[in-house]
Amino acid sequence: MPSARASELIEVARDASRRAYAPYSGFRVGAALLGERGTIHAGCNVENASYGLTVCAERVAVLCAVAGGERRFAALAVYVEAETPAPPCGACLQVLREFADDMPIYLAGCGDTRIDVTLAGLYPMPFAPAALDQRKRD
Ligand code: THU
Repeated sequence: MPSARASELIEVARDASRRAYAPYSGFRVGAALLGERGTIHAGCNVENASYGLTVCAERVAVLCAVAGGERRFAALAVYVEAETPAPPCGACLQVLREFADDMPIYLAGCGDTRIDVTLAGLYPMPFAPAALDQRKRD
């Protein structure tokens, strides 16, 4: 991925983090998913007074992308409004792997550090659709 494209993706994620609805944690997150067709899909975390209903920025980006007709992803950027970058949580990694075997993930925060990782590196062994083929039927 050309570094200009990675920077653009991080900028979209940072912009999305400004729209985060995070009155309970105060932790704003933005995500930007690059679809294989070149469109960028953004998401931010959306919290709820019933805390467990909160949805992470990454999953909001995936759901928006899929609802927009995109099912294959080429790269992801996650921006947190904190000094140190943070990776997607386990639930988001599982949801991301439904639609991408691997892709670069750029992690950024307010500080200067950018951490480049990969989806397969962070989550090497997802629960995959193939497992369902092995199920015993009554
Ligand atoms: N959060 C995300 O948006 N993405 C993650 O991968 C981890 C956590 C959000 C959820 C919640 O609104 C806040 O960060 C604190 O957990």
